[in-house]
Amino acid sequence: MNVIVLGGTFGIGFELAKKYLGKSKNLIILGRNDEKLNEIKNQFSGKNTNIITEKLDVTSLENTRNVLSKIIDELKQIDLVIYSSGFYKPNNTFDVDIDLYRKTIEVNFMGLINVMSVILPQLKKQQNGHVAMISSLAGFFGLPNSSGYGPSKAAMMNYSESIYNDCKKNNIFVSLINPGFVKTRLTDQNTFEMPFLMSAEKAASIIYQGLEKKKYDITFPMVMSFLFKFIRILPRPIFFFFLKFMVKT
Ligand SMILES: NC(=O)c1ccc[n+]([C@@H]2O[C@H](COP(=O)([O-])OP(=O)(O)OC[C@H]3O[C@@H](n4cnc5c(N)ncnc54)[C@H](OP(=O)(O)O)[C@@H]3O)[C@@H](O)[C@H]2O)c1
Repeated sequence: MNVIVLGGTFGIGFELAKKYLGKSKNLIILGRNDEKLNEIKNQFSGKNTNIITEKLDVTSLENTRNVLSKIIDELKQIDLVIYSSGFYKPNNTFDVDIDLYRKTIEVNFMGLINVMSVILPQLKKQQNGHVAMISSLAGFFGLPNSSGYGPSKAAMMNYSESIYNDCKKNNIFVSLINPGFVKTRLTDQNTFEMPFLMSAEKAASIIYQGLEKKKYDITFPMVMSFLFKFIRILPRPIFFFFLKFMVKT
């Protein structure tokens, strides 16, 4: 099995990559941080899995295409692609930082599309494979202070639904992963209370089990999953009333 993890240098992606050590023939870990990529190459080697690390910035289509095409040429078969590259910064409703919105969409959504522009034709050619993308509970509806991040994650959700049936026809599985709060560099910025905050190791275990079962919807923790799916369908006046109490600063 050949597994590619985009954003495998830190956080959830890093912990998830660890799960495929000894279980995959080739494990390809991609990210921008050279130092961390070298460290991972040393740390992960010697576990019966060939480790390939490459520097890749998903916001550059040229870089993404070059790196992924080289990997495909070399390995010929790609079994699982996990998109864990992500960017988050809380933002203010009235102080509209255009660069922040643009960067968030560039990394979280356009980065995914850059990757898929190379990966999906290859999986179609193979007539098998599995693509998994990490969205967020924040994509279910517009949370306060998340008007940049939330829409980028909602776009990922919509995209995964849109490609699902075409992929299925070609024997390609799609998984959409929606975690709640996970302790990483990303959430270390938050100053508000984060209910059910879990470690990246725990999140990676839940995701790994879901991916093994080829589940489409991997949303967790369970309580928040139910709550978010319920709140989403409420009539708007009740929805907005609930929303006022959802993020405590
Ligand atoms: N933590 C949470 O509570 C939480 C909750 C829901 C969803 N998520 C999602 O889970 C995913 C992983 O987040 P995390 O919490 O593990 O954060 P993290 O520790 O900051 O990891 C993010 C990863 O994305 C990579 N990355 C960032 N910009 C990139 C770019 N331009 N090109 C390529 N790679 C890039 C980073 O690697 P380099 O810096 O080496 O490029 C890093 O490996 C994200 O999509 C995030 O939105 C997280």
